Amino acid sequence: MKPLPLAIGPFMPEQASTFAGRVDALYYFLVAVAFFFTALIFLLIFYCAIKYRRRSPDETGEPPATSNKIEATWIAGIFLLEAVMFVWGASVYVSMYSAPEGTLQIHVIGKQWMWRFYHPDGRREINELHVPAGRKVRLVIATDDVIHSFYVPAFRIKFDAVPGRYTTTWFQATRPGRYHLFCAEYCGTGHSRMRGTVIVMEPRDYQAWLGSGRAEGSPASEGEKLFLALGCASCHRSDVQGRGPMLQGLFGKQVLLETGETVVADESYIRESILDPRARVVAGFKPLMPSFRGIVTEEQLLQLVAYIKSLSGEERPPISGMAPQITGSAAPAGVETRPTRRGK
Ligand code: CUA
Repeated sequence: MKPLPLAIGPFMPEQASTFAGRVDALYYFLVAVAFFFTALIFLLIFYCAIKYRRRSPDETGEPPATSNKIEATWIAGIFLLEAVMFVWGASVYVSMYSAPEGTLQIHVIGKQWMWRFYHPDGRREINELHVPAGRKVRLVIATDDVIHSFYVPAFRIKFDAVPGRYTTTWFQATRPGRYHLFCAEYCGTGHSRMRGTVIVMEPRDYQAWLGSGRAEGSPASEGEKLFLALGCASCHRSDVQGRGPMLQGLFGKQVLLETGETVVADESYIRESILDPRARVVAGFKPLMPSFRGIVTEEQLLQLVAYIKSLSGEERPPISGMAPQITGSAAPAGVETRPTRRGK
């Protein structure tokens, strides 16, 4: 759906993402419906009060007349109207939820009281986020402490950072500029100071910006170091099946669990498996892995997740000697990756 060219006026922040027009159109529709029924109800009150007023002191009322036709009409009408609201609202919501893969991905960690951003190339920022215009940006949001909410009014996105899990959203900024970023969830005494700026740049300027700063190791390469340092590689082997599942080509796949259920190996599942390995054990494996809760920080977690994700990406060739894998993008929907060796 194309963003509607609606007047913004003093009531709405400017529209600076592809979501803005859609959210505003829905919002104006809801306001218009509310205005319409408010006006209708008030007009009817005055109309009926005048038309059916008592004309003489001893006039008595008549028993109310009912009409099934009128009843059925308004029930069906209201139902249809609300179904429109539901379907329309749900479609906007779902598109905000389903962050496309293969886009620029930025990790966000909320912390009392700042926002930290991790770019895929290793650039980090605090309370400032540089993104290119016209490109889809996927955000994986986590928190170090309490609930925060990532809110950019000009983009019409607001997503909570929830302890113990990742939330993901995305946006596509439409024009260069500087836009407010707020924390929209009360998170302690410094909540009102927890704000920043999203700086949308022309792609050319963005490239220059990326090249200008000092990039530390990318999250994926930092994650690889951690993976080795923490000894993960001794069980999660890349050459033969180890005591833990192979991680190459895992990301984004359906995984069959010990319970017979399946789960998609997304960021949240990988994160959970590091912190709470026994929660959802892969079929064919024993719950041997210790929890890394309290051992790795939220930042290290995202690095580990980025590393495991990179094992399925195109940017990093698969480690030699491993079995051929279906890569994430080429895998048909519903494909199941099962361990090749069942419970020994
Ligand atoms: Cu973070 Cu309010």
